[in-house]
Amino acid sequence: MRLDKYLANKGLGSRKEVKKYIEEENVYINGLLVTKANKEINPEKDKLVLKNKDKISKDYLYLMMNKPSGFICQTKSLSKKTVIDLLPKDLQKKDLSPAGRLDLDTEGLVILTNDGLFLQKIISPSSTIYKKYYARVDKAMEEADIKKFEEGIYIKEENYKCLAAKLEIISPKECYVYIREGKYHQVKRMLKACGKKVLYLKRLAIGKVYLDKNLKSGSYRKLSDEEIYLLKKDFD
Ligand code: URA
Repeated sequence: MRLDKYLANKGLGSRKEVKKYIEEENVYINGLLVTKANKEINPEKDKLVLKNKDKISKDYLYLMMNKPSGFICQTKSLSKKTVIDLLPKDLQKKDLSPAGRLDLDTEGLVILTNDGLFLQKIISPSSTIYKKYYARVDKAMEEADIKKFEEGIYIKEENYKCLAAKLEIISPKECYVYIREGKYHQVKRMLKACGKKVLYLKRLAIGKVYLDKNLKSGSYRKLSDEEIYLLKKDFD
């Protein structure tokens, strides 16, 4: 793994801040000074010594965005518009990444940050943070589907049993889905396993942080200190 990525993931700072910190001669690997941010390291074998850790500036940014359909949750793409393209130019330079991916056609809450540790915690497979989705489907939902979700849906094509999740039916063809995992097309696949096709999907919440109802599709705002606190509290 690249040294700057490793240190950013550990929460030392954003990639840019970490790069500056490395170039300023603060990092020793196996006793030798390293000043190249792209140095490949083996975190399990290499011995890292970090000097002047307190000097690293941390101007982390945390944004919430109401993602419209037609944008991908990546930082770069040659062929598609990304969520980063929705930000003004100054923020596009801030090294932000989406914490978890929504499909091209899925709308709703995306959190963007340059805090590597925060990103890791949200997307980690062992994350216990629930994400809430609103889904509209093509056929009427049944009581039996609620049980299937509770027991853990089995996805045949993947030979994978999902973790227990929650399904709340709000009208015959509308529901809320609460999941902890974030596998590819997870909600769509879970509902498909119940015989339903998702016609519309929107993420409403990550943990206790809800999509701001005043945030128009395609816009963003900074997370409040309270929202950042609510998310970080769930990491413990
Ligand atoms: N599950 C899906 O199927 N799609 C998303 O975009 C998010 C969760």
